[in-house]
Amino acid sequence: MARTIENELAEIESRGLLRRTRLIEGRQGTHVNCDGREVLLLCSNNYLGLADHPALATAATAAIREYGTSSGASRLVSGTMALHEQLEQAVARWKQSEAALIFNSGHAANTGIIPALVGRGDVVFSDRLNHASIIDGILLSGARLVRYPHNDIVRLARLMEQHQTSGRVLIVSDGVFSMDGDLAPLPGLVELARSAGALLMVDDAHGSAVMGEQGRGSAEFLGVRDGVDIQMGTFGKALGSFGAYAAVSEQLRRLLVNRCRSFIFSTSLPPAVLAASLAAVELVQSPEGDQLRQRLATNSAAFRRNLAAAGFVIPDGSTHIVPIVLGSAGGTMGFCEELLTEGIFAQGIRPPTVPEGTSRLRFTLMATMADADIADATACICQVGRRRGVL
Ligand SMILES: Cc1ncc(COP(=O)(O)O)c(C=O)c1O
Repeated sequence: MARTIENELAEIESRGLLRRTRLIEGRQGTHVNCDGREVLLLCSNNYLGLADHPALATAATAAIREYGTSSGASRLVSGTMALHEQLEQAVARWKQSEAALIFNSGHAANTGIIPALVGRGDVVFSDRLNHASIIDGILLSGARLVRYPHNDIVRLARLMEQHQTSGRVLIVSDGVFSMDGDLAPLPGLVELARSAGALLMVDDAHGSAVMGEQGRGSAEFLGVRDGVDIQMGTFGKALGSFGAYAAVSEQLRRLLVNRCRSFIFSTSLPPAVLAASLAAVELVQSPEGDQLRQRLATNSAAFRRNLAAAGFVIPDGSTHIVPIVLGSAGGTMGFCEELLTEGIFAQGIRPPTVPEGTSRLRFTLMATMADADIADATACICQVGRRRGVL
């Protein structure tokens, strides 16, 4: 059969994998209007509720008034504004790193940083469940990709022995895994990286601002902040803004500025976004930040406890990302649609985002949810689960 666009779409649909965007109206709060219906939003990465926090909105609007709407160029041409440098300094102070570099998104960070560090002749060891943007970065780099079983330090050590190189070695892992909500074994990764002279990169898109003291992230939480060479995090999730950062040494920053194609060849982030990120970085280090993290932990624990008590299989852990793996794509989307009619939006996640046969509902909590939101949501999920024969 000819490979027409029509055939390709039909093939995706026949496998139950056709995706469409859903219209969300209003602010990114705990409740939104989704496709015309008021729902509890249980699949946003706005973990601390900062996406509609007045401090960020005020900072963003003030920046537009003062600096306009665009940076006008890439950073190395004329697009470096004072706000870029202020944000990098603020991130470095917060993360207690020598330096930081800002990227236009987490995807741009991963597809820029990895090819800047490794290429032909080098080897990258990557957790099997790492985010797609990490894989994209590795493929773009031309380095040899060796995937190790999820969080398996013993197998990783063996693979590192098998795949020795005279080139550079990079180990890369999510900090908090985006679709599973578990933590990487960072102390073990640090030890392996040190003994092999490898670089260690952690993508902390889902741990940034949430994990560790003052939200410094998974490496801080697990006591190995100084052992991670590249701590990447995003501003678009718990930090309620947009873009990404890499907390690195001064030397690594200089290399990234010179080698990172997504940094060099792209217009830099605009003033409003930078100012919102700056406000967010300040906020997450304040007592309000501590309260929000505490509240998120309480909500996550209650949500996990209620679903486990009803009989759902919830992976071990305590984070704000809670998957229920259902297996089939069709069953997952059916569950998702039924929840929507009950007023809960939890997007079904299917391949290629997750491995074949592990389609799931991926629930994410917010600090700004009330006790009643958690109680009502878990009761409703259990009811739908029973109706569908999942429980
Ligand atoms: C682990 C991880 N890394 C990177 C990204 C990409 O970040 P961004 O959305 O800022 O492009 C995501 C986003 O979903 C993610 O979950």
